[in-house]
Amino acid sequence: MEKGKFIVFEGIDGAGKSTQVELLRKKLTQLGREVVLTAEPTSLESGKAIRRALSGEVKKTESEMAAMFVLDRIAHNNAEGGIKELCESGKDVISDRYYYSTLAYQGQSTDYGWVKAMNTRCPDIKRPDLCIYLDLLPEQSLARIQKRGEAVEIYENKEKLTSVRNAFLSVIDDLGADGERIAAVDASRTPEEISEEIFKAVKEILFD
Ligand code: TYD
Repeated sequence: MEKGKFIVFEGIDGAGKSTQVELLRKKLTQLGREVVLTAEPTSLESGKAIRRALSGEVKKTESEMAAMFVLDRIAHNNAEGGIKELCESGKDVISDRYYYSTLAYQGQSTDYGWVKAMNTRCPDIKRPDLCIYLDLLPEQSLARIQKRGEAVEIYENKEKLTSVRNAFLSVIDDLGADGERIAAVDASRTPEEISEEIFKAVKEILFD
């Protein structure tokens, strides 16, 4: 049986990842493919612990955060119904965030080389078939976050979003140079325009 594809969406908070994940799911389903949506932090125990730290309820150092995201990612890959099992059974998996986020967020606040090695050299962390990076200016993303009216998390202020965006741009360059397949998409346009561009990149990997 043909394996499913593993696609991840990345970008700063408010870049429009959930909208685009949903639009891609529809398009792949229309092609007759089975698609499963997933996200990090996960809803597993390891992901719940991260949520408590993100809300500020529990205090963790940035190194602890980096390690917690790696632990959650290993569980995400290997749990029952996890990424590996789903792809093996022929389903496409779309994840809202993956290790590019850890490299961008924790890579700059700890040691980039250490964070990169933990993620890319771990035998239990699958490499995506495609990463879609949604690029948006921090001003625009902050406006979207405020419009949603949700509680603001520890990484959601303009200064932080600016440094995370810069970090994402260098992560994309670095991993791109390592041969990872990454599509950087301008996320300031309409959802339909963005989705069309994403689908072009996805079609290229479907028939590999
Ligand atoms: P997410 O649930 O995507 O936030 P939102 O739905 O508000 O966009 O992710 C929660 C936060 O966790 C987000 O600020 C990014 C951060 N994060 C990291 O710092 N490192 C990581 O490895 C991941 C996956 C997320």
